[in-house]
Amino acid sequence: MIIEPRMRGFICLTAHPDGCAQSVKNQIAYVKSKGAIDGPKKVLVIGASTGFGLASRITSAFGSDAATIGVFFEKEPAEGKTATPGWYNSAAFENEAHNAGLYAKSINGDAFSNEVKQETIDLIKADLGQVDLVIYSLASPVRMHPVTGVLHRSVLKPIGSTFTNKTVDFHTGNVSQVTIEPANEEDIKNTVVVMGGEDWAMWMEALNKAGVLAQGATTIAYSYIGPEVTEAVYRKGTIGRAKDHLEATAFEITDSLKSIGCKAYVSVNKALVTQASSAIPVIPLYISLLYKTMKAEGIHEGCIEQIQRLFGERLYTGNAIPTDDKGRIRIDDWEMREDIQNQIKALWETATTENLNEIGDLAGYKQDFLNLFGFGFDGVDYDANTNEMVPIPSIK
Ligand code: NAD
Ligand code: NA
Repeated sequence: MIIEPRMRGFICLTAHPDGCAQSVKNQIAYVKSKGAIDGPKKVLVIGASTGFGLASRITSAFGSDAATIGVFFEKEPAEGKTATPGWYNSAAFENEAHNAGLYAKSINGDAFSNEVKQETIDLIKADLGQVDLVIYSLASPVRMHPVTGVLHRSVLKPIGSTFTNKTVDFHTGNVSQVTIEPANEEDIKNTVVVMGGEDWAMWMEALNKAGVLAQGATTIAYSYIGPEVTEAVYRKGTIGRAKDHLEATAFEITDSLKSIGCKAYVSVNKALVTQASSAIPVIPLYISLLYKTMKAEGIHEGCIEQIQRLFGERLYTGNAIPTDDKGRIRIDDWEMREDIQNQIKALWETATTENLNEIGDLAGYKQDFLNLFGFGFDGVDYDANTNEMVPIPSIK
């Protein structure tokens, strides 16, 4: 079939297999261009199919020749209906890894469930014995709690008072005011259950109990802080409470896995266009100003540049891992540079529908959004008939 983007609000209903494969190839080429990292050898990535998780899998495999197991929750293709992008990304990743002689297998299912944890443990036992790095990179709006059976939904709301600020509809470029009512206690609790650290801790406990964590293994989860303008809806909002919980969980995991010397860290990453971040009000306007400013300074990064730098300049340098006063790894250092943030603050004040194309990188935002679904890549023939029924080699 000929596959075109079909936009519905903040999502695209279609994905292009060849474009997703091109995206994976581009990321592999980037990692290879930066040279080898004396990094992990056997890696489990939870949330491995898109965004930071996919970049972590690619960096492990093509930066350090690591064997990887990827866990994700993606929709497979059906005749006449495309798969989700993460499916095609993972198919392309496995093919590239296998061609390079690297072990790569994947598990498609709900990472919050006991069953997927057990399936993963069985696969590690059968094929790898143990893993020395566990990346935890889930982003989900819902979590079925494996003990209570309750389905929790996260929300993106401020806490304490109503929040009003500028936002942009990135499809139209229309800048407007948005008002968001504050969360109630139930909203806060649910968001922490979904996006906090409980599931990460459950994974690490299950892996350790099964004996599949190597002595001195490392585990990393990803967090975000960001600037003042997004604070009310992000870091001081419901999602921020979940990130506080995730960050606190790192210390608990390190403590509970002392006997095998396993260390848990949170890495604070840069704001990037993903399906999740596009749905948060205010953030797309901030990102379009951020992209413009960072590109002008020559310090713009996408997921792969961020994670390659995380591995190469933070995690696997041979020296102690540098952290901030709260024990967090900071790879958002360039985003948070004072000169960058001061420029964005000034731009924020003046941003309107009329000037955003000029003062912000709306085109770059849209391009990245299309790229998430495999559209807009050079070297891909989008007019050609494409087979949507692409299998992931290790699945079924
Ligand atoms: P993403 O949506 O690109 O990736 C999410 C991954 O989780 C996918 O692989 C998806 O398949 C998987 N997933 C979701 N629900 C699942 C489930 N129930 N079972 C198994 N897999 C499931 O998201 P992302 O932007 O890469 O986010 C990853 C982490 O990075 C999150 O913790 C996020 O908060 C954090 N982060 C994001 C940004 C940003 O700007 N996007 C910035 C800093 C930190
Ligand atoms: Na991810």
